[in-house]
Amino acid sequence: MSQVETIYLKDYKAPQFLIKTCDLVFELFEDYTQVTNMMKITKEDKSAKDLVLDCADLELLDIYLDDAKLPQSRYIIEKESLKVLDVGDEFKVILINKIYPHLNSELEGLYKSGNIFCTQNEPEGFRRITPYLDRPDVMAVFKTTLVADKERYPILLSNGNRESNFKLDDGRHGITWFDPHPKPSYLFALVAGDLGVIEDKYITKSKKYVRLYIYTDKGNESKCKHAMKSLKDAMKWDEDVYGREYDLSLYNIVAVDSFNMGAMENKGLNIFNSAYVLADEDSATDANYMGIQSVIAHEYFHNWTGNRITCRDWFQLTLKEGLTVFRDQCFSADMNSKEVQRIEDVKALRERQFVEDASPTAHPIQPDSYMAINNFYTATVYEKGAEVIRMIHTLIGEKKYRAGMDLYFETFDGQAVRTNDFLWAMSKAGGVDLELFKRWYHQSRTPKLKVDESFEDGEFRVTLTQIVPNAVDVTTQSAYYYPLKIALLDKSGEEILEKVLIISKESEEFIFKAKSKPILSINRDFSAPIIIEHKESNYAFLMKHDKNSFVKYESAQSFALETIEALMRGEGLDKEYVVAYGHILEDELDLSYKALLLELPSVSSIMQRAEVIDFEIIYEAKEKLQKHLASTYKDKLLEIYRQNHKPESKELDAKSIGQRSLKNRSLKLLSSLQSDEIATLANEQYNNSLTMTDRIIALDILEDISDALSASALDNFYNRYKKDALVMQKYFSILASSHRVGTLDRVMALQNDDAYNELIPNFVRSLIGVFARNYKYFHAKDGLGYKFIADKIIDIDKINPQMASGLAGAFKIYEKLNEKNKNVMKIELQRVLKEHSLSKNVYEIISKILKV
Ligand code: BES
Ligand code: ZN
Repeated sequence: MSQVETIYLKDYKAPQFLIKTCDLVFELFEDYTQVTNMMKITKEDKSAKDLVLDCADLELLDIYLDDAKLPQSRYIIEKESLKVLDVGDEFKVILINKIYPHLNSELEGLYKSGNIFCTQNEPEGFRRITPYLDRPDVMAVFKTTLVADKERYPILLSNGNRESNFKLDDGRHGITWFDPHPKPSYLFALVAGDLGVIEDKYITKSKKYVRLYIYTDKGNESKCKHAMKSLKDAMKWDEDVYGREYDLSLYNIVAVDSFNMGAMENKGLNIFNSAYVLADEDSATDANYMGIQSVIAHEYFHNWTGNRITCRDWFQLTLKEGLTVFRDQCFSADMNSKEVQRIEDVKALRERQFVEDASPTAHPIQPDSYMAINNFYTATVYEKGAEVIRMIHTLIGEKKYRAGMDLYFETFDGQAVRTNDFLWAMSKAGGVDLELFKRWYHQSRTPKLKVDESFEDGEFRVTLTQIVPNAVDVTTQSAYYYPLKIALLDKSGEEILEKVLIISKESEEFIFKAKSKPILSINRDFSAPIIIEHKESNYAFLMKHDKNSFVKYESAQSFALETIEALMRGEGLDKEYVVAYGHILEDELDLSYKALLLELPSVSSIMQRAEVIDFEIIYEAKEKLQKHLASTYKDKLLEIYRQNHKPESKELDAKSIGQRSLKNRSLKLLSSLQSDEIATLANEQYNNSLTMTDRIIALDILEDISDALSASALDNFYNRYKKDALVMQKYFSILASSHRVGTLDRVMALQNDDAYNELIPNFVRSLIGVFARNYKYFHAKDGLGYKFIADKIIDIDKINPQMASGLAGAFKIYEKLNEKNKNVMKIELQRVLKEHSLSKNVYEIISKILKV
C-alpha cells in the first residue's frame, strides 16, 4: 500500500482548459444509467495539446469532438483519466457512458438511497458520473435533463430552475433543469424518486419570491416542518446579519436515508441525511431539533460562502467550511441561547478537534498535503477553522468584520479563491496586518499559554508565555497572534476592567494598576482556541462570581478536573470543590446553562490532560466524585428533578427545553447511586413522558442501573419504534454505549437485527461508531474491542471507504495509551494495514497513527 500517492498544495497548477457549459442527459434505468455529456471547452494554456479529464471506472460508449465521432486512436482511457489527444483552442466534446447507481455502495457520485436516485459529488464524486475537469476552480453553466419511468420516478430534480418537460411513449418522462450560476462539478446534484413534499415560500428583502420545497419519503411530510421553519429563519438571518439574499426563485431540499455525511449544499438542491431533516415530538430529541436547525442553516449559508465564492482547490476547504461553521454557530446563538451555544461549541471543539490535534493525524486548518481528500473533512478544518474566523471577528470587531465580508463578496463573487484572498479582504477592511495571524492556517496542534501573576506596590503583573507545540514532523512552529479577552475582578466579584489583549510575542508582561490583588478571569468567551496553564487560578471564586458565562463554566470544569485528577492519584476528595458545586445547585440561572454547569468533565477531557491514559483509573475517579456529589446533594437534586419534571409537556420553547435538560442532568447524576428509588423514577419517566428527550435519557439510565427495568423498557421501545430508522439508531446507540457486562457480544449480535442495515451509514455510526467510543469496552484490556472494530473496518472498507476511515478515527488515541492497551491496539492496527486492497482512505489514517 505504500505506493499511495500524496497530493501537495505546492504542486497546484491552474487548469489548462475551462468548461464553459455542460449539458447533461441522464437516462435512468433500474440496472444502469446512461449519461450523455456535452461540454463546450476552451483552452486557457495554449501550450497544452491534450485534454485530460478525470474519471473513475469509465465505461465509455461513444465520444465526439466537434460532432465528429472520434476514432480510438484519438483518445486514451486510463485508470483515472480520459485523454483526448490533440485538441484545438475552442471545441465541443460529447461523451456517452454507462454507470451503475444501484451497485454504488460508496455513496459518491450517482447512487441509490432506497428507491431514490441521488448524488453526492463533493469533493470528487462527479468523475464517477462522467469524465470531467473535476476540480473546484473549473466552473461551468449546467443544463440537466433527467429521463425516467414516470410512475416510479415522478419527481425529477436538478440544480437551478425547471425549464421544460416531455413525455415518452413507453411510460417514461423527462424534465430539463437549467442553473444560470456557473459552478464547479462538486455542486452538481440530481434526484429522482417518488417523493412526498412540503411547500412554503419566502419573500426576500428586495421582494423576490422564492418557492421552498422539502422532499422526503412519502409519509414523512409532517416531520419536515421544523426544517422548513429553520430554512426560513436562516434566509432571514443572512439578510439581516450579512446582507445576503438568496439568488434563485427555487430552493429544494431532499432528505435521503443513505448519506455519508450530514448534508450537502448543492446549488438550489441541497441533499440531506434524513437525520437532519425529519423530526416530530414523538421521535426527535431536543438535541435533534437543534441539530436540524444548524445543519439546514449551514447548507443554506454555503450559498454565499461556498457556492457564489468557492475554493480554488481542496486545500482551501476551510475557506468555505470554517467560515460557514462560524456563520451557523452565530445563527444558532442568535436563535437560541448565546451562552449555551458558545459552551456547546467549545465542548465539541475539545471533544473532537483537540483530540485530533494531539494525535499523529494532526494537521493545520489548511493542510499542505493529503492522500485521500475525503479524510480532510475534519474537526480541524471545520471547528478549528471556525475558531480562526471568530478570532478575526474578535480582533477587528463586528462592524469591520461585516465590512470585510462585504469586500470579500464584492471582490470575489463568482470566483474560486484561496484563504489568502479572504484574509486580504479582512485585513483591508479591518485595518489590521494579518501576516502573523496567518500562522493559524499553516501550523498544527493546540497552542498553550502559561499564565504567571504577581502583585506588588499597586501593580498587578501578568506574564503570558506561549508554549508553541511542534507539528507532527516539524519542529519549527512559531508564536501565534490572537485576541485574549480577560477581566480583572475585585474581591466581591465586581469587574474592575475587561480588555482584549493582543498576544503576539513568545512572552509578554502586562501591567495593571489596582488597589489590591485582583482576580484574573482569562480567555473569556474562549476568545482563542488554546489551552491555558494557570497555577494561581481561583476556580471556586470564579465559579461563584464571574459574570462571563464561559469562564464561570470553564472554572467549574477545571475545578472538577483537578478534583478528579487528585482522586486518580489516590488523594482525598477536595471538599472545597464539593461546596462550590453546591453553590451552583442553589444558583438562579438560565436552566440550560445551569445544566451545563452541573455537568462533570467528559472522560475524553480527563484523558486529554493525562500523560498516559488508563481508562479504569479515570472511570473509577469520576464515578467516585459523581457518587459523592449525588449522595451529598441528593435532596436538592431530587427537588430540582421534581420541580422541573413535566412529563405531559412536549413544548419546544427555551424554558421547556431548559427544564428537561436540568432535570435530566439531576437524574443522571443521581443514577450513580444505583438505587431502586432512582431506577423507579427513571422508569416512570420512560413510561409517562411525551418527549423522546425524556425517554432516551431514562432508557440510558435504566440500561446502566437496572437489569429488570431496562429489559422491559428496551423491549417496549423496540416494538414501538422498530419501523422508524432514525429512532432505531438511537436504540442501537444506547446499547453500544452501555457499560453492562456483555456489551461487545450484544453489539455483535445486533448487527443481525432486522432493524439494522450495514449499508446505511447512520446505522453503522449508531452501533459500530458508538461502540468505538465506548471507553470501557472498546478499550477492554483483552483487546477484543479493538479486534472487533478492526474487523469492521476491513469489512466496511470494501463497501464504503469513507465510512471505514471514519471508524478508524477511534484509533487516533493510540499514542497516549498505557503500554498494555497500546500493545493490543498495535496488533490490530498492523493487521488492518496488511490487508491488501485497503482503500487509501483507511491506509492514510492508520499509517499515520502507526507512523509508518
Ligand atoms: N460540504 C459539506 C458536505 C460534504 C462534504 C459531504 C464532503 C460529503 C463530502 C457540508 O456543507 C457540511 O459541511 N456538512 C456537515 C454538516 C455541517 C453542519 C457541519 C456534515 O455533513 O457533517
Ligand atoms: Zn459545509
